[in-house]
This record gives sequence, structure tokens and C-alpha cells, in this order.
Amino acid sequence: MHYSDFGLTNTKHLLTRALNNGYAVPAFNFYNMETLNAILNAAEQTNSPVILAVSESALEYMTPDILMGMIRGAKYKKNQVALHLDHGHSFESCKHAIDSGFSSVMFDGSALHLSENIKLSKKITDYAHKFNVSVETELGVLAGIEDERTFTKKQSYTNPEIVADFVKQTQTDSLAIAIGTSHGLYKRKNENEKLRFDILKQIATNIPKIPLVLHGASTIPQKFITKINKFGGDISFARGISPAQLRQAITLHITKINIDSDSRLAFTSSIRETLAKYPNIINPREYLTTAMNAMTQNCIDEIKNIMGSSNKA
Ligand code: G3H
Ligand code: 13P
Ligand code: ZN
Repeated sequence: MHYSDFGLTNTKHLLTRALNNGYAVPAFNFYNMETLNAILNAAEQTNSPVILAVSESALEYMTPDILMGMIRGAKYKKNQVALHLDHGHSFESCKHAIDSGFSSVMFDGSALHLSENIKLSKKITDYAHKFNVSVETELGVLAGIEDERTFTKKQSYTNPEIVADFVKQTQTDSLAIAIGTSHGLYKRKNENEKLRFDILKQIATNIPKIPLVLHGASTIPQKFITKINKFGGDISFARGISPAQLRQAITLHITKINIDSDSRLAFTSSIRETLAKYPNIINPREYLTTAMNAMTQNCIDEIKNIMGSSNKA
């Protein structure tokens, strides 16, 4: 089935509108029915467009059939929701998502040699565009999860000098860039560490019509860390990107902001709290509903405080 049969739209549609109007569309990751509904409930309550992001490992966890069954049964505003493959690592992975009904795919060739990244990105845009599926590609490397505790800067920032040629050669619809964010809970040594807005500005100047994407953008609200530790968890010095810096990035053409860790924190801290406070609970529906609502609230907060996408659906 094609994604339009589900009432989904592609990210080119959502992001072009965001770029022209100065806001960002949130891309929230999900892995099951509760996290999917948490995102859709937040989108409904804020009247915001939203990108439902599924990583390769989340797709394997849910299986394509169960995922598409949930999408078929879910309730959302027509043409305001995209289903997006997050960090596809091969042509086959992107093709599989497109053939399954995704409306958007990311090809993450950031670790490849530039010529190989261009070659594979173009192969994927050629295939995706036949079905009006949007493609996000990446230039520059984010520090990986492996680096989170050591803060090793294995990342390489995106080179603004090559972005125009990359876009022209690959025909990509949006571009993920590296300006100092990283995936996971440990993004910052201290509060004052700034993203490389100088690089972002040059990229936005060189490719003014291309929506830019920020991965690793979770803010890591400390209230969730405190709650997790209070109720039996053990997480120390996790620190994210400040909402103020994310809002500044939006003024420089960041139009898709990827959030996963914040949702995990909202969800998990809620489960820890419920199980600690009510030791007799054994019905998963009870603590999963509370956790879903906690994630919805966090998505709403981020839509309102960061994205500026309320009432844009
Ligand atoms: O960018 C990565 C996302 O947080 C997905 O992570 O592969 O554990 O689902 P995952
Ligand atoms: P966080 O780990 O900062 O939530 O990043 C998520 C992400 O980039 C998904 O692609
Ligand atoms: Zn990412």
C-alpha cells in the first residue's frame, strides 16, 4: 500500500511549509502502541504536524506488519503526519521501508567516504521519488552513543563548502547536519557549551531552500533524571541541548528536530514512579497508560516551548 492510502504525508510537504514559516516539525521516535499514541495525542492536543520516526532496530522490534497495522488503526489529522525511517543504513533498508508504506526515509551515509555517500544517497532518492517519498541524507558525523560517557569528540562538523554540491548531486529533500549535538543522554560537559551556530549559518546561506535536520537534539529534562534516581534508577550527569539553543537553530533553517531520549526518560521515569508508589500493581495497562500520558505531556511541552509548531497542522 502507498502511504497516501493511510492519510500520511511526506516530510518534503511538512518541512517546506515549516521552512517558509519559521518553525520546526518534531520527529519523535516510537517503538510500540503506547509511544505511537503518545506522539499522536500530543500532535492532536497542540494541532501540530508531526513526524513519526522509526529506527531500523525499532522496526525490527515491532515488525513491519504490526507497525503498519497500528498506523492503519491510529487516529490522526490527514496530511499532517509523516512516517519516517530514522537512520537507514543501506539502500535495501530504505527500499524496504518505502515498499512497506513509509512516506519518508533517512539514508545515513555520514560514516561513508563522501563519494560513496553521494552515490548511495542518489540511488535512494531515485527510487524514493518515484513514489513521492521524501529523502533525508546526512553530511558530518555526530558523536555516537559509544562516546556518551567519555565525551570523546569523534564527531566531524558538516563542511559548509560542500553542502550545495552534495544537494545538487543527490537531489536530497532535506539534509541532516552535525553542529555539535550527539545522540543519547550525555551531550554536554557543561551548561555553557554552545552549538556551532557559525557553521549552521554558513550552511543555511549556501543551501537556503533545503530544510535542515538536527539529530541528537534532546534537552534531557533534569526532572526525569531526578525521578528515575529517586525511584531506584542510576543515571548521573546526563545533560542535553537547551531549548533556547534549539529555538535559535530554528531561526537558521533547522526545520526537523529529532527527539528520542527525552521520550524514553519521560516514559521510564513514570513507570519507575508508578511501580514504586503502587507495589501491588501487576497489570501492565495501568503503568503503561500513565507512562504514555507522561510522554504525551513531554511531547506537548517540547512542541510548545521549542518547535513553534502548535496550530500549524
Ligand atoms: O538516533 C537514534 C534513535 O535514538 C534510535 O535509537 O536504534 O535504539 O532505536 P534505537
Ligand atoms: P536524542 O538521543 O537526542 O533524542 O536524538 C534522537 C535522534 O537523533 C533520533 O534520530
Ligand atoms: Zn538521529
